[in-house]
Amino acid sequence: MNRFYITTPIYYVNAEPHIGHAYTTIVADVINRFQKMMGSKTFFLTGTDEHGDKIAQAARAEGIPPKAYADRISGLFQNIWPKLGIDYDKFIRTTDPEHIQAVQYVLQKVFDAGEIYFSTYKGLYCVGCERFYMERELVDGKCPDHDTAPVEREESNYFFRMSKYQDWLIDHLEKNPECIRPERYRNEVLSFLKEPLEDLCISRPAERLDWGIPLPFDSKYVTYVWFDALINYISAIGYPEGELYGQFWPVAQHVIAKDILKPHGIYWPAMLKAAGVPMYRNLNVHGYWKTGEAKMSKSHGTVVRPLDLAPVYGLDAFRYFLMREMVFGLDASFSKEALVARINADLANDLGNLFSRTLAMTDRYFEGKTPPLALPPDEAMDGELLGKVDNAIRQFREQIPALGFHRALSAIWELIAAANRYIDYVAPWSLAKNPDSLPRLQTVMRTLLEVNRIVAVLIYPFMPETSSKMLERLGVEKRGTELRLDQDASWGALVEGTPVFKGESLFPRVETEGKKQEKPAQGANKAAVAQRVEQTGSPLIDIDLFRQVDLRIGQIEQAEKVPKSEKLVKLLVDIGEKRQIVAGIAKTHSPADLVGKQVVIVANLKPAKLMGIESHGMVLAVRDGNDLKLIVPEAETAPGGRIS
Ligand code: ME8
Ligand code: MG
Repeated sequence: MNRFYITTPIYYVNAEPHIGHAYTTIVADVINRFQKMMGSKTFFLTGTDEHGDKIAQAARAEGIPPKAYADRISGLFQNIWPKLGIDYDKFIRTTDPEHIQAVQYVLQKVFDAGEIYFSTYKGLYCVGCERFYMERELVDGKCPDHDTAPVEREESNYFFRMSKYQDWLIDHLEKNPECIRPERYRNEVLSFLKEPLEDLCISRPAERLDWGIPLPFDSKYVTYVWFDALINYISAIGYPEGELYGQFWPVAQHVIAKDILKPHGIYWPAMLKAAGVPMYRNLNVHGYWKTGEAKMSKSHGTVVRPLDLAPVYGLDAFRYFLMREMVFGLDASFSKEALVARINADLANDLGNLFSRTLAMTDRYFEGKTPPLALPPDEAMDGELLGKVDNAIRQFREQIPALGFHRALSAIWELIAAANRYIDYVAPWSLAKNPDSLPRLQTVMRTLLEVNRIVAVLIYPFMPETSSKMLERLGVEKRGTELRLDQDASWGALVEGTPVFKGESLFPRVETEGKKQEKPAQGANKAAVAQRVEQTGSPLIDIDLFRQVDLRIGQIEQAEKVPKSEKLVKLLVDIGEKRQIVAGIAKTHSPADLVGKQVVIVANLKPAKLMGIESHGMVLAVRDGNDLKLIVPEAETAPGGRIS
C-alpha cells in the first residue's frame, strides 16, 4: 500500500493564527485528502513550537509562566484547525515529553559521533529569528524578515559541524532535482551552498534562557530552537523505534513558506545526515500572503485572521479562495474584494447555478429522479463537455501532486463553465416540449447529473463540505473520506431512479457596494453623447458597471396580493433558487395570471421591505400609458438563466 506523510511547520505560540498559517495548513489538508482519494495510507502532522526567547518574552509580558502561555496559544491553534475543515492525525507540541526525549536522543547521538563541539562565537543576532546573521544576509544592516537591527552577541556554546555536510547536500540536491520545489527554492538553497557553510550554534546558556530543552551532555545549556523544532517531524511519529516512524518517514513531505527555507533546506538535511536518519522526500515551499505590498505578519500589524472570514463567507469559500488565488511558490495578495469577487463569480454563479439548474430541471422533467441513460451521447453536442470531464480529471490527478492547485481548480471550473454553456445550447426546456425528444432529454439530464457528480468528487479535497452536500443531494452514498478517484470519478456511477434533492443554493451571493465607474466620453461623439444624456437623464456607463447587474430569468411559482395594498403582490420566484419578491404590479396583473409566467428579475438588488414584507429582487416591466407590461423571454427558458 502506498503511504504518504505530510507536515506543516509547527507554528510559534507568540502570535495568534492568521491566514498565512491557515494557507499552509489548508494546503497540507488538500494534499492529504487527495492522497486518501488515491488510496494512500496517510499521516498528517501539525503542531506548535513552544520554546525559546520569543515565547519566554511574550509570557513575561503577560506575567504568566511560559508553559501556561504556550498552553493558551497552542490551544488557539488546536481549536482553529477543525473550524477550517482541517483533518490532521496528530498535533505535536515541543513541550510534549516524547518530543523532549527524542530531541535529547538525537543530540546525544550526534554528540557521541563527534559532530558537536564547544566553542566561543561572536556575531550579530536577531532575537525575532532566534539566530545569528552573517553581514551579507542583512538588508541595510537589518534583519530582512523583521526589519530590525540585530544585536551583537558573544557566547560560548555548542556547535554542530554543519559545514561537513555541504558537499553531500549539494550532491543530494543535484541528484534529486525535485527534492526542493518549486525549482526557484531549490536554486535558492543551491546558491546559499555556493558560499562555505558555517557550523551551526545549537545551544543557549540556561542562565540566560531556561525555556528550552537541556542538552543531555551539559545541563548548563539548553538547545537552540531550530534543533528542537525540526526534530518534531520525526519525534511525532515515534522516532527512533516507533512503528509509524518506520512506515511514514521514508515518504515525508514538508510544506513551509519561504521564510523558513534555510532551516529546512540546509540545517535539517545536515542534522538528519549526522543522526543517520534518511533525508525527507520533498520540501514544498510557497510564497507569502500579503496585504497590499507587505508580508502579512504580526510585527507589521497587517494580520488577517481566518476566523474573521471563514464563518462569515463560508468555510469552503475561504478554502477555495486561498487555493485558487495563490500560485504555489509565488506571493499573492489578500483582499476582501477579491474574496467576494471569487465567491460571486466562481461559486454562486458558476458552480451554484449549474447545480441548482440541473436539479431544478430534474425536478421538473423527471419528478426529481435520475433519468435513464436512454441514448448514447451525441458526439456533436456532448463531445466538448465530455472532453472537459476527462481534462478535469486528468489535471486533478497530475496537478495536485505537482502543487498546481490553481491549475487543477481552473480545469474543474472549465468543466463547470462548459456544462453551463451546454445547458444554454441544448436547451432541455425545448426538448421537454416534444414527447419524441424524451430519450434525448433523459440523456442530456443524465449527462448533466453525472457532470455535477464528478465535479462534487473533484472538489472534495478543496471543499469537503460542499462536496458532501452535493453528493448527498445527488443521492450518492459514498462521500467524504470514502471517495476514491479511480472508482468515483469515472463516468456512469449514477443509478437510474435515484431521487435527488434540490435544497438551498450552495453559495448565496455576497452583496457588494456597487462601485461607480463613470468615465468621461471621448472623441467626436462627445457632443451627441452630452445631448443624449441631457435628454434622457441617464449618464453613460461602462460595460463593467452594467455587468454588475445580475439579470435572471425567473419563473413565478406563487403569487398573492399584499393585504391593504392596491399595488403590491408577493411573489415566490424560481431564479435557480427560490426568491421572495414584492412587485408593484397588482393593478394590472392578477395573482392567478402571474403563476407559471416567466419574467426578468434583477437578482442582486439589496433586500428591501415593502409594507413590512421582505423583497429580494425586482421584476422588470415597461409602462405603456396606463398599462404595465412585463418583460418576458422570447421562448420558455430555464429559470436562473443569466441575461447578458
Ligand atoms: O517559523 N504567508 O513559525 P511561524 C504565507 N516555529 N505563509 C505564512 C505567512 C504569510 N504571510 N506567515 C506565516 C516558525 N506563514 C517556526 C517553524 S518548523 C520546524 C518551525 C506560515 O509561526 C508559513 O507556513 O513563524 C510559514 O513558514 C510559517 O507560517 C511560519 O510560522
Ligand atoms: Mg515567523
